[in-house]
Amino acid sequence: MSIRSFVQGIYDQQIDELTGSREFKAIELGKATRQEYDAFIGNVIATHLNSPQYLAFLYSVAPPAARDRLKHNMLEELGLEEETGVSHPDLLRRLADGAGLTGQLPKFEQQAEERLRDVASKRLLYGTLKEGGLSAMCEINAFEYMLSRVSGSIATALEQHRKLDHDTLLWFTHHSVVDVQHAEEGFQSIDDFVEYYEFSVEDAQTIVEMSLRENAYIKRYFGDISQGRAAGMLRDDP
Ligand SMILES: [Fe+2]
Ligand SMILES: [Fe+2]
Repeated sequence: MSIRSFVQGIYDQQIDELTGSREFKAIELGKATRQEYDAFIGNVIATHLNSPQYLAFLYSVAPPAARDRLKHNMLEELGLEEETGVSHPDLLRRLADGAGLTGQLPKFEQQAEERLRDVASKRLLYGTLKEGGLSAMCEINAFEYMLSRVSGSIATALEQHRKLDHDTLLWFTHHSVVDVQHAEEGFQSIDDFVEYYEFSVEDAQTIVEMSLRENAYIKRYFGDISQGRAAGMLRDDP
């Protein structure tokens, strides 16, 4: 089995856990409270506010074959890829403003900083930078892959049930389009990374499994209510 299909299999399973969770269904079907919608929006903002920095780390360890791809992805996050581009953190600030959560932005920014510190500290678990790099690549691509599949329906749900307008929801609708390509490129970059840094298949799979052990989608978007494979317990249906 290639690393790509191994990674994708775990992503697919975790996306099913996310979209099958009671919390996600409540957001999608208009059954969440206003407070729950706002907590979800805040978690999305805190999770992604430092996205350019995560991409910059990947760029710094990119193998030659993936360098251009990761550079374009990083510049896109920064809003520098097109002349009229807006940085993705600014799209998240627009989301906070449009949702009436401007006053909570400092809190979201602080949470984003805490998550960055948490993620950067976790890398110390690995013995080498190449291992940490592969781990980061799997985790970051996990979100691009998930967003390419799920962010369109999140935007629709927030438009219908939280009455947010198109401009406010641009971060979601933008990622439902651009992350289709980014996710595809991300898989290619993972393969390039494994090849260039001469991982054995077994070692690469072990790092992927360790990195994706818990369901980061549920953990980041819905807090500590549920983690990893325990997500099945949140399903409405038996
Ligand atoms: Fe982005
Ligand atoms: Fe992206």
